[in-house]
Amino acid sequence: MELKDRVAIVTGGATGIGRGIGEVLVRYRAAIVVADLDADTAERTASDFAAMGVPSMAVVADVTKPDSIEKSVADVLARFGHIDILINNAGVAGARGWHTSADSREEDWIAAFEVNVKGIANATNAVSPVMRTQRAGKIINIASIAGREGRPALPHYSASKAAVINYTQAVADELAPFNINVNAVCPGLLWTPMWDQVGHRYARFNPRYEGLPSRQVFDTMIQDVIPLKREQTPEDIGNLIAFLVSEDARNITGQAINVDGGAFLR
Ligand SMILES: NC(=O)c1ccc[n+]([C@@H]2O[C@H](COP(=O)([O-])OP(=O)(O)OC[C@H]3O[C@@H](n4cnc5c(N)ncnc54)[C@H](O)[C@@H]3O)[C@@H](O)[C@H]2O)c1
Repeated sequence: MELKDRVAIVTGGATGIGRGIGEVLVRYRAAIVVADLDADTAERTASDFAAMGVPSMAVVADVTKPDSIEKSVADVLARFGHIDILINNAGVAGARGWHTSADSREEDWIAAFEVNVKGIANATNAVSPVMRTQRAGKIINIASIAGREGRPALPHYSASKAAVINYTQAVADELAPFNINVNAVCPGLLWTPMWDQVGHRYARFNPRYEGLPSRQVFDTMIQDVIPLKREQTPEDIGNLIAFLVSEDARNITGQAINVDGGAFLR
């Protein structure tokens, strides 16, 4: 696989899964744009990538704001002149992490849908005109296994990730005539800042996890729900994405693919 000279925007690319995806694409020599709310971490990540020998830049972008992401796209075009790959990775667990449906507040539903769903649509709408003109492009939307089947304590998050899978299908059909592939990736359980912040809350919904800190909840869940009995890593997600954005995957579009150690067999 060869991604040399391809320009890839990774939203939420400063840390966690987004950073891991960037690291794998760097190995294939793609140029990486780290687009994130967190300016300092995005700058550090972009300079780490540049130190690995690929062109890289950071842009401060809030995917919930169309103006913000449109400005970022203009900055990327000014530097590189083309955009070949968009990884819609930015996502949140909700405004306050995990809650049952009855405990979810308006702000949880708004945060999950504003970032996880509308954020993907905003970035896609900002980048797809460029790809349509190029008659080439690859878009990857990060969903979740929670979008395959609703999980307790994650109603707003699960519903938003199911919407990502559905949105992926709709846009794949719309953009296919322009030679643009659109696919979703559904990660399983990955130890990232997101899990660190919200994992301990799971104990509120399942006595098995009572009193455990986030990392122990995470480790126990790996044994409980992952047939391969190991956690997934950002590199695992990046490895699938490197294939999906390469020409080897030119006939794959509109699909959602799990990277979850066998947790969901559909
Ligand atoms: N960690 C997991 O187990 C897991 C599992 C399945 C799916 N996912 C999904 O993978 C993606 C990345 O998750 P993660 O665990 O790395 O999360 P994370 O919280 O560790 O990192 C998310 C990144 O997105 C950025 N971000 C948040 N809101 C943004 C916005 N409005 N605009 C731009 N950037 C924004 C944050 O600054 C951060 O750098 C998310 O879509 C998440 O839902 C994660």
